[in-house]
Amino acid sequence: MSAPNKSYDPVEVETLKPEEIERMRDEALAAFAAADSLDALHEAKVAHTGPASPLALANREIGALPPHAKAEAGKRVGQARGAVNKGLAARQTELEAERDARVLVEEAVDVTLPYDRVPAGARHPLTTMMERVADVFVAMGYEVAEGPEAEAEWFNFDALNFLPDHPARQMQDTFFVQGPKGTEESGSGVVLRTHTSPVQARALLDRELPVYIVCPGRVFRTDELDATHTPVFHQIELLAVDEGLTMADLKGTLDHMVQALFGEDMKTRLRPNYFPFTEPSAEMDMLCYVCKGESVGNPDRPCRTCSSEGWIELGGCGMVNPRVLTACGVDPEKYSGFAFGFGIERMLMFRHNVEDMRDMVEGDVRFTRPFGMEI
Ligand code: FA5
Repeated sequence: MSAPNKSYDPVEVETLKPEEIERMRDEALAAFAAADSLDALHEAKVAHTGPASPLALANREIGALPPHAKAEAGKRVGQARGAVNKGLAARQTELEAERDARVLVEEAVDVTLPYDRVPAGARHPLTTMMERVADVFVAMGYEVAEGPEAEAEWFNFDALNFLPDHPARQMQDTFFVQGPKGTEESGSGVVLRTHTSPVQARALLDRELPVYIVCPGRVFRTDELDATHTPVFHQIELLAVDEGLTMADLKGTLDHMVQALFGEDMKTRLRPNYFPFTEPSAEMDMLCYVCKGESVGNPDRPCRTCSSEGWIELGGCGMVNPRVLTACGVDPEKYSGFAFGFGIERMLMFRHNVEDMRDMVEGDVRFTRPFGMEI
């Protein structure tokens, strides 16, 4: 700042001379025009409009002028500062527009480029089918139960009334889990469960009566992998134990299940069979949901799904054998129960016309993807 202007002569204040003010204004406008980026413009702004800029310093000189000179000098400086601010705003707008146009070009995404992410898979239809079946029973108040896949022989066979010489206990049917060689556990008494029925015994031992459970799970048998068999497959087991349950309850429950899964006009039939853990036992079939039995004896209307037999075999069922109830500490005089179990792979085969079970185990996404995100 200059020394006090003792003579009160505005002409002596160099920075307030008209040509000086014009020079400051023109220098500022030239600096803004020369700024080729927003950063450069910011620097020019600080230099020409900031508190230490020539025009700001000139403005401060006005206070030292005599009153009659203040108005004229103030007007001159004010006009110059107004022009500088206008020029700054105009250049700011120009540079922002240039930046926006450049960003649009630089950050453009070519949506026609090839998609290089790993394609999304789909849930396996076996999983969705098991959940779908379990949901039918959960909606009726059943509880989902689980058991171990490496199971005690006692649960897999003994508790279910398989006698010691039953053929299913042989090495050619069952995977035995061996303990370390030469130890007492080498005949470990552990098998890979051959069906989900051991969960029946576990549920009866674990839970208070009455028991209503549904158990989806993986099971293992020494079957060769072919079009209709796999050594690792899935079953759904159902068990109801309560007072006064009869075969009619079993039949009604089966009918409800096939109606929920395949349509209102579906029904089941039972054929006599034998399972050690149910008495009486039956094989359960459901009406062919494609031809509804109309293909039987009708060569003009053959049905691929049921091979024109009118019925599709689902699995096994029966009234829980009183021996099983007794082995699990349940009084067979007071309680009775029914159970059934069937294979999910077979159900998937006829429900979706899958011709070869091997397609289900090979993990090829081309098999699972058509099932989409069915839930
Ligand atoms: C049983 O496993 C009994 N636990 C079912 C049962 C439960 C009966 C409750 C009574 C009461 P089974 O061995 O028939 O039954 O097998 C049931 C189903 O498993 C068969 O109907 C078939 O759909 C399926 N299954 C059997 N072996 C294979 C295999 N190797 N590959 C695919 N599915 C199979």
